Amino acid sequence: PEAITVQELAQRMAEKGADLVKALFNMGMMVTVNQTIDQDTAELLVEEFGHNLQRVSEADVDIVSTEDVDAEETLEPRPPVVTIMGHVDHGKTSLLDALRGTDVTAGEAGGITQHIGAYQITTKDKQKITFLDTPGHEAFTEMRARGANVTDIVILVVAADDGLMPQTIEAINHTKAAGVPMIVAINKIDKPEANAKKIRERLLEHEIVVEAMSGDVQDVEVSAKTKQGLDTLLEAIANQAELLELKANPDRAAEATVIEAQLDKGKGPLATVLVTRGTLKRGDIFVVGTQSGRVRALLDDKGRQIKEAGPSMPVEVLGLGGVPNAGDQLTVVENEQRAREVSAYRTEKANDKRTTSVPANFENMFSALK
Ligand code: GTP
Ligand code: MG
Repeated sequence: PEAITVQELAQRMAEKGADLVKALFNMGMMVTVNQTIDQDTAELLVEEFGHNLQRVSEADVDIVSTEDVDAEETLEPRPPVVTIMGHVDHGKTSLLDALRGTDVTAGEAGGITQHIGAYQITTKDKQKITFLDTPGHEAFTEMRARGANVTDIVILVVAADDGLMPQTIEAINHTKAAGVPMIVAINKIDKPEANAKKIRERLLEHEIVVEAMSGDVQDVEVSAKTKQGLDTLLEAIANQAELLELKANPDRAAEATVIEAQLDKGKGPLATVLVTRGTLKRGDIFVVGTQSGRVRALLDDKGRQIKEAGPSMPVEVLGLGGVPNAGDQLTVVENEQRAREVSAYRTEKANDKRTTSVPANFENMFSALK
């Protein structure tokens, strides 16, 4: 039996992922955009949306391998990808730093912490969690608009001494539109003026009913400063991830999404990518966006050389032909000939669409969107 993620199906149907999630919900199924559904469910959905069912034979499948689907039995559990969102100064970065501090592997020899847009921690229960450090909601929205929804769970950070602010509400709306489950982290709980109750009540106005108000959105009181509640937050992520049953096929040619990229004076073009399926290995030939390359080196989020990176792992790739854009798809191909074909195909498609290219550097992305 074949499986397809809700998002992939939405893309093929040219519908919004969130609309499919809603339709599935009405059919009694609680799934998110990044979860896979079986073929029967997919067919039901296609009919539900009034599309004609068109079965494509293997030979007709698009030249780009992102169009093919992994068989259910090849799928294995993968770590959740978590994005932290919230209003300015509510403590997103502090919380990420504090969570990073809980990484049981952080103290290992050679582990020099460097800043890349994504990193993975291992909890004391040996669970891996990938965090995306997107500095702005624009980045999240832009990635989503480009069909690169890599986030499985959003953590909404709200400062308990401040309340719901414009960017908090924006984050809520983005999360809803993306059809991604949310965990509310009520931060700065150490402050004397903190009022968690007020925040829970205000969230109700935005149809977010947290567990403390008998709803089903997990809420956790935390302090990035005193580290209070961090374990509970990690548990909340683990709970949510378990419900999602996130899976990917690790034994295939890798596909990954560019999180950020830049031109390094010494190392050349660099991209931080998140592997979405398969395993990315040193020496792999790939196409990223419309450019091709060969993996010269892979660095993990601690700057260490690694040989390979499996699903949900963020990794820095060296060996690119140029600087790609955030949201670009990296696809490993068999050989250089194939790389040229795919690259030519993508160039043609890009010209057709006349899409405005987005700089991968988030800072630039901000100014570009202003
Ligand atoms: P932007 O990236 O500018 O949107 O801000 P941010 O959400 O990343 O907030 P940041 O982590 O930079 O924290 C903002 C301020 O709040 C800093 O001065 C932090 O020290 C402080 N802060 C963050 N978390 C806590 C907390 O739990 N308790 C207290 N008392 N202060 C905190
Ligand atoms: Mg910050």
